[in-house]
Parts: sequence; structure tokens; C-alpha cells
Amino acid sequence: MPRKLYVKTYGCQMNVYDSERMAEVLATSGYETVDTPEAADMILLNTCHIREKAAEKVYSELGRLKGLKAAKPDLKIGVAGCVAQAEGEEIMRRQPAVDLVVGPQSYHRLPAMEARLRAGEAALDTDFPEEDKFSRLGARAAAHRGPAAFLTVQEGCDKFCSFCVVPYTRGAETSRPVTQVIAEASALAARGVREITLLGQNVNAYHGADADADGGEASLAGLVHRLAGIAGLERIRYTTSHPNDMTDDLIEAHGSCAKLMPYLHLPVQSGSNSILKAMNRRHTAESYLRLIERIRAARPDILLSGDFIVGFPGETEADFADTLALVEAVGYGQAYSFKYSTRPGTPAAERAQVDEDVKAERLARLQALLSRQQRQAQDAMVGKEVSVLFERAGRLPGQLVGKSEHLHAVHAQAPAALLGEIARVRIGESAPNSLGGVLEG
Ligand code: 5AD
Ligand code: SF4
Repeated sequence: MPRKLYVKTYGCQMNVYDSERMAEVLATSGYETVDTPEAADMILLNTCHIREKAAEKVYSELGRLKGLKAAKPDLKIGVAGCVAQAEGEEIMRRQPAVDLVVGPQSYHRLPAMEARLRAGEAALDTDFPEEDKFSRLGARAAAHRGPAAFLTVQEGCDKFCSFCVVPYTRGAETSRPVTQVIAEASALAARGVREITLLGQNVNAYHGADADADGGEASLAGLVHRLAGIAGLERIRYTTSHPNDMTDDLIEAHGSCAKLMPYLHLPVQSGSNSILKAMNRRHTAESYLRLIERIRAARPDILLSGDFIVGFPGETEADFADTLALVEAVGYGQAYSFKYSTRPGTPAAERAQVDEDVKAERLARLQALLSRQQRQAQDAMVGKEVSVLFERAGRLPGQLVGKSEHLHAVHAQAPAALLGEIARVRIGESAPNSLGGVLEG
């Protein structure tokens, strides 16, 4: 009988991708995935360390799982992801029910670690190994379901924004070779994947080895053009990008590559130049706005998304007003905003902090503005015909739900045969977080 694995994913899209890869590599040790922790012989929590709340969630979940283990002593509990990387052994000290701790760069070693668990040993690995994790993770696509998939092409970050743990948990920037990415994308397309989102903490800094390219390296734009040649793959997206790595060729690709979707997540974090400097972002509000203008010139209907932090150390009311002004100037279709959260080991953690009440109040004001903009962008779709990749059944009988090119969730009455396919839908209504429409004949 196969052993059962339950993986719970926290945090970003890269963790969603990594969870699939962990399931795939553990399949070689005889595991199949199950949908509930109760049914599992091994539970893996794939964790996030980006903000304090995300990290704390892990310990409360581990507290609950301890009860499950008391009733089922053979159950193995593992912690993967960025909390594992940041806290290592400390996790086992704080929660002795944990048997395994594995950092994001060591997932290819999971089968060996699992064998140690079965021999009755604990297993800990938070190395940044020399060997290529991706080539050792083996066959791709077995654990993937659905017509849209994530594909990590770049990992780590050398930017060191002063609030961010990523350079410490995911390590230095690395890019996967073009041939590896093409092989993985082709395997996904062969299994019916129509849309791929290329992932990286700094994805537009991608510079993967490519024997066919000048200088032996491909840029992200080069990679996108190569991927666009894969039959069956209809849509390409990428996330997350840093403004300073939006190169001319990438901006140009938004105008010339029909498979590159008109949606761009381009975090700016703040609209105040003194806060941007304190954040070590190395760009200004003005340079960001000029960049947006150039991107819109290449692809006028592009929908922009961003990330914002309010209450960064030293942020005054005037700084915050600059952020609101930048948001007004850009007009985002979608955005994420957060209260600044002190992260141990990062430079900004040492600085004088803004009051929690002030952060909460600013966040509410920013979110009110961003939701207004999101709703406006959605409302502007009413009456238009859009392409939808149908991904799953909707809430109502006979309904399917999918994503438009602009990443709006769209529902329509449609035959189940359209699952996994792209179809044209005339948008008739805009609800708070989705659009509704009618299939075009
Ligand atoms: N506090 C709050 N938000 C943060 N982010 C990263 N670090 C922090 C922090 N310490 C946000 C940034 C980033 C997104 C992934 O998370 O906006 O773009
Ligand atoms: Fe973190 Fe992104 Fe800044 Fe890198 S660029 S340090 S991942 S916020």
C-alpha cells in the first residue's frame, strides 16, 4: 500500500510550485498525496516567513498536529519552506512533535531524509547545496492538476530591500538554464497546461544559460519568446518583478509577444522617495512612474498590480500621502498591501517603529483606494468580449470559472467540455471579486 502524504502550503506562489515538486519527489519513495491531514502518514507544512503573522501560523498549526500525532504515533511531521530555512533546529526545540526540517534548497534530498525518518532518526537540512536542485528533482508534471501551472525559473534575491527576509531564506539569485525550463514547460503543455506563470523572487532579473543566445545567456524576454514557440501553451505570465530589472527587451516583449498576457505585477512598496531610499529600493517614485508610462506605451491595455508596505520605520503622514498620490497616478487593477512587520535579522528591524494604530489606520485608507481602483478596472470590462481559460466548475450548476487575460476571475454558463480550454465570453456583470458573462457562439 502506498504511504500517504499531506502537504499544506502557506505564502507565495513559489511555495505552491515547491509543494508540487515535493509531492513528485516523494512519489519516488512510494507516497501518494491525500487531501486531509487525518488520512496522512506524513504531513509537510510548506511555510512562509515574509511577515510575523505568517511565521506564527506555523506554530499554531504544529500545536494542532501534535494532537493528531498523539493518536497516531507513526505519523511523521515535517516543516519545509522559509520558516524551516530561517529557524532550522529551533523549530524542533519549540515543537518536539516535528521530525523533519527542510529548507527550500534541499527538497531534492527529501527521499533520503524520509528514509532516515523511517529508521527512527530525525532529519534536518537547511544547507544551500552546490548541486542543482532542479535537475535532481526529476520528472515534472505528475503532481500537477489543471490547465494553469507555475514554473520556477529564478530563485533568490540579491537586492536586499531593508525590510525583506527573502535574500536570507531563499539565498542568492540563481536562474535555471533555458533548456531545463523549456523541457518542463513542454511536459506541462503535453499534459494539457495552457497557461504558465514563470516564477522568481526577482523573475525579471532572470539570466539563464542558453547556448543559442549571444553571450551564452538568455534574458527573461528571450525566455518568453522561446516558450511562446511551444505548441499548446497559449498564455505566459511572470511574477514577481523589480522595477530596476524591467529591461527594454522585456518591455518590448509586452508589445510583440501575443502569448505574453497583459498583466504585470510590479511592486513599488511606497510612493515616498525618502522611504524608498530607507527601504534600499534604489529607484524613485518618478522613475517608477516613467517606467509605467513606457510599459503602457508598449501594451496600452496592460493591467498593473503592485505591493505596498505602510508604516515602514520613519514613515510620516506626508510620506504616506506620497504613496496615495502614486497610487492615484498609476491606477492599479489589483494590489496587495501590508502593514510593515519587523523581521529579525533585517536592517529595518533595528530602526524606530511606527505605532500599530497608525499603521492600521493608513492600511485602511490605502486599501479603500486600491479596492476602488480594482473595482473600476473590473467595471471597465463590462460589455467587452474577453478570452477565458476555464479552470474549474463554478458555484452554480452548469457554470464554469476561469481567468481572463487580465487575470480577472470570470464565470459563465458553459459545457464541461470547455474545462481546460480557452473560450470567448461577453462580460455582463462586475461583482466585488469576479466578472460574469455569456459564452459567445
Ligand atoms: N513587512 C511587510 N510586508 C513585507 N513584504 C516583504 N517584507 C515585508 C515586511 N517585513 C511584502 C512586500 C513584498 C511582498 C511579497 O511582501 O510588499 O513585495
Ligand atoms: Fe525582498 Fe523583493 Fe526586495 Fe528582493 S526585491 S529584497 S524579494 S522585496
